[in-house]
Amino acid sequence: MRPGARLGLPHNPRSRSFAWSAMKLTINGTPRELPDDAIDPDMPLLWALRDVLQLTGTKFGCGVAACGACTVHVDGQAQRSCVTMLSSVAGRSIRTIEGLAEGGKPQPLQKAWLAQQVPQCGYCQSGMLMAAAALLARNPKPSDADIDAAITNLCRCGTYPRIRAAIHAAAAELRGARSAA
Ligand code: FES
Ligand code: FES
Repeated sequence: MRPGARLGLPHNPRSRSFAWSAMKLTINGTPRELPDDAIDPDMPLLWALRDVLQLTGTKFGCGVAACGACTVHVDGQAQRSCVTMLSSVAGRSIRTIEGLAEGGKPQPLQKAWLAQQVPQCGYCQSGMLMAAAALLARNPKPSDADIDAAITNLCRCGTYPRIRAAIHAAAAELRGARSAA
């Protein structure tokens, strides 16, 4: 199936005129190679994740960097994959929601998400978790203001208070684990 077809996104006929060799990048810790007949150089990373690699945990919401449903990590930084050109992540390390659990076990953030019963419809939640994980990686004790500033993702179900509570709980668990180590 053409990349992006399942998302109802149009094909860019100009992009087929580019010469493009197989692209290498790391996905969730595993080196991957994207065959040149499956990708366009100017396709968004989101399309490659969902349509080429079948990693459908990352969601399409708006396509214009507004909602955050497509958030992944690029070299540890939260990034909207719907507006990240595939060519810009060649050779880089991508982490998606499928790679968030550590050693197959939920990490503190995911456990806190469950304990706080954060998800409602769930559609925005993979992007929320990836944004929250990136925040905790650089800020072990975020305030509510820090959370609001860092996580600009949208949730139509209004789960923001539970998201804040879950991030505080996960941050506390992570700090406790670090101090015990
Ligand atoms: S789908 Fe990427 S920000 Fe909305
Ligand atoms: S849980 Fe429904 S949009 Fe966020």
